[in-house]
Amino acid sequence: MTLAIHQIHPHFVGEVSGIDLTRPLAPDQVAALEAGMDRYAVLVFHDQQLTDEQQMAFTRNFGAIEEARGGNITRPEQQRLPKGMNDVSNLDKDQKPLARDDRRRLFNLGNQLWHSDSSFRAIPAKYSLLSCRLPAEHGGNTEFADMRAAWDALDTATKAELQGLICEHSLMYSRGSLGFTELTEEERAAFRPVRQSLVRVHPVSGRKSLYLSSHIGTIVGWPRPEAMAFIRDLAEHATQPEFVHVHRWRQWDLVIWDNRQTMHRVRRFDDTKPRDMRRTTVAGEAPTAEQIAA
Ligand code: OGA
Ligand code: MN
Repeated sequence: MTLAIHQIHPHFVGEVSGIDLTRPLAPDQVAALEAGMDRYAVLVFHDQQLTDEQQMAFTRNFGAIEEARGGNITRPEQQRLPKGMNDVSNLDKDQKPLARDDRRRLFNLGNQLWHSDSSFRAIPAKYSLLSCRLPAEHGGNTEFADMRAAWDALDTATKAELQGLICEHSLMYSRGSLGFTELTEEERAAFRPVRQSLVRVHPVSGRKSLYLSSHIGTIVGWPRPEAMAFIRDLAEHATQPEFVHVHRWRQWDLVIWDNRQTMHRVRRFDDTKPRDMRRTTVAGEAPTAEQIAA
């Protein structure tokens, strides 16, 4: 088997063949995949029948696994998956779809908004790896947008205006925009806003990207409505069809994306039926902006 990556979108996204992710990888295979991520920002694999343990082992090739804690409202005793896995399914511990008014389901609907994973953490995520154990019967595509191409397409004046701007990100902002506002004191404390640069530079390619996310609630030093109108405008620009790839899931697909260079969202699906998606996340290495002391 020879590893090959074939670009499937004019700006980004590589489809990978010639690799079995259930087995330990050789260093040259890991290096080829990292180089593929640097270049394509999203990699798609098919027919990877991973167990949770194999998914976590594969993930560790790219860095430490980010802990799910602080990123959702699921209580420890409600967890369906082992530590190290993010449950992005619509299922409870008994593998049954969550009830329509279940708080966890309503919270997870936030994944339908364009976002970058863990932009609400002071050190945001590097990669996310999403394994499709069971696709939705209808809907449930995941869309990706290339934030480098979006940056490149901005006019010079806008690029200059963006340079140096810092945003505040929180799960309270993304969920609040859907009307999900009832949070406990603990949840509010866990979701305290963090600061992120609005422009990022990729550590390997040196390419700039727009660091947008529905978790953004303001730009530091700006009147909030002016900040949000600008962020909305930028997000609209960045998610035009030209910059977007639609992934239609087949069982045992695995998709890896670079949260530093892309946004993503899931589209609506019939969630009275199971959709079993399991994510592992590679932790980032450094904050993108200075935080203020609490
Ligand atoms: C995620 C996410 C989208 C999906 O795993 O981070 O946003 O398709 N999931 O479930
Ligand atoms: Mn996500």
